[in-house]
Amino acid sequence: MEYPVNLNTNLTLTSTEMNWLGQEIISLITEHFNKLNDKTVLNIASVDELREALATDMPNEGRELSDVVDQIRKILLRNLSHGDHPRFFAFVPGPSNFVGAMADALVAGFNVCASNWLEASSFAEIERITIDWLAETMGYPKSAGGHFVSGGSLANLSAIAVAREIKLGNPDPAATVYYSDQTHISVERGLRVLGFAPEQMRRITTDMSFRINSTELIDTINADRRRGSRPFCLIANAGTTNTGAVDPITELFEICSANDMWLHLDAAYGGAAMLAQSGKKLLGDLSVAHSITIDPHKWLFQPIECGCLLVRDRSWLRTAFDTSPEYLGDVDEKIGEINYYQQGIQLTRQSRALKLWMSLQVFGVDAFCGAIEQGIKNAKYIEKKLSALESWQIISPATLGIVTFRYYLSTKNEEELDRLNQKVADDLAESKIAFVGTTLLNGSRVLRMCTINPRTPIHDLDETIVLLDNLAKNIFT
Ligand SMILES: Cc1ncc(COP(=O)(O)O)c(C=O)c1O
Repeated sequence: MEYPVNLNTNLTLTSTEMNWLGQEIISLITEHFNKLNDKTVLNIASVDELREALATDMPNEGRELSDVVDQIRKILLRNLSHGDHPRFFAFVPGPSNFVGAMADALVAGFNVCASNWLEASSFAEIERITIDWLAETMGYPKSAGGHFVSGGSLANLSAIAVAREIKLGNPDPAATVYYSDQTHISVERGLRVLGFAPEQMRRITTDMSFRINSTELIDTINADRRRGSRPFCLIANAGTTNTGAVDPITELFEICSANDMWLHLDAAYGGAAMLAQSGKKLLGDLSVAHSITIDPHKWLFQPIECGCLLVRDRSWLRTAFDTSPEYLGDVDEKIGEINYYQQGIQLTRQSRALKLWMSLQVFGVDAFCGAIEQGIKNAKYIEKKLSALESWQIISPATLGIVTFRYYLSTKNEEELDRLNQKVADDLAESKIAFVGTTLLNGSRVLRMCTINPRTPIHDLDETIVLLDNLAKNIFT
């Protein structure tokens, strides 16, 4: 095929064009941060609308830059829900920060390959320093290490891979893993991906406070041993997604020690609360764990994707993941250098450390501590407000920024209560003013608010409660 001579096969823009595009994108992002409160929380287009607006063949020729940016502004950005909105209270919201977003742009712009020391020594060092900060926050000793991954799912999966390598050496069909019925689904998925069969996974029930039932745990481990199984790993929660519950970590550590088992903590959500005084008190000593998942893209206010796996002994990572292909001999580490590709699953990897490092440099850790403490207080505020209203039941008290509740009338049966509470959430979502999610606790459908956005003003909390209360009163009558 003959290509026209003026084709831009270098894939370059002129300086003027690059500046224009950069300014446009920065303006869009700046406006997003400045005007978020005025936007609707949920913006969901229908499949038909999007198909019509976006479907085209792969373009043979390029389009005007302004035309492409315009389409992004009008179609993509207007049909985007905002997990960083001050009234987005569902799931784990993502109240990111501008500095982190700019760090991501910088990393993409320089196409940083945070894989090995040769290609990005300064970024490897930033990752080492940031990992050290997180490890220190968790109370880990100097021997600790870790690396950044896409998020909690990958951190949990990586942790199980390390635990298996260190504790068992090789996959063993008799090996069994333990976790509670409140454990995030990423753990079971990670186990499946790593080749664990259902009979190797033990889901233990939880108590009234949604903490793992340690008596049942011990009984199950003992029964498994008698059967010839090989219990080797317990995954405990330091802040469950449903209710913020924290498993009894010290007790679990003792159980693990007595059984020569690995203790992994899923602190993807709750771990950041170690920076808040009240959070630290609740979480206790996390440093007893062999490994910890913590996600800066949750409660450390970083843009998606930013997850982190920490281990108490950094040599475990190389034992689990080291590979030295013949064509990478040129990047062999010298003393003190770190090739992160030898410490995790990814070979080519972006720098996810820069955004956290840069945000901490700009705002200072004290600002982060205050922001996290505010999220904890917000949930307590919601709990207090709801408790003062008629017909609202608190299902799980405000814990690490999460509170669950439901509207209750004794005249309604359980099935009606589930359906009507779900309708309260659905109608609120439809209003687009605020988004409060639901979850299932002890078989009941309940409303759940996660209040970690430090930019949520008190009046937004008040208004959301008023909206919920009015909706519930209408729906239940
Ligand atoms: C406790 C916990 N663990 C793991 C995950 C999975 O994290 P990610 O979505 O970043 O993969 C989540 C997500 O909300 C979580 O809350």
